[in-house]
Amino acid sequence: MYNETVMDHFSNPRNVGVIEDADAVGEVGSPSCGDTTKVFLKVKDGKIVDIKFQTLGCAAAIASSSMLTEMAKGKTLEEAMKITRDEVAESLGGLPEKKLHCSNLAADALRKAIENYYNKHKIDWV
Ligand code: FES
Repeated sequence: MYNETVMDHFSNPRNVGVIEDADAVGEVGSPSCGDTTKVFLKVKDGKIVDIKFQTLGCAAAIASSSMLTEMAKGKTLEEAMKITRDEVAESLGGLPEKKLHCSNLAADALRKAIENYYNKHKIDWV
């Protein structure tokens, strides 16, 4: 059902955990299944220097979160804000049709974390 890349990121997820002194945090829940993803960011000079996630969810959600952290690390907040749900799924080599919604959690949680950072620092981001 899942390709090798998805299985790899599910079995050996990158950047799992909590950043205790995170500069920003974003959390989202899926209305359809109740699963949740939380993203923690460390930001320096406008760049994501560290990122971790906690996902209570299915294999596709965990693999998507893992892939997303790899995509976002080292990017500026502006660049990371542009990572789309589709790009996460594409970077995983695709997900089964009925699991596509699971890749939304990661991208949405990252966006929330960036919004959290902008709001904390009163940065106009719209
Ligand atoms: Fe809930 Fe995949 S079934 S995120």
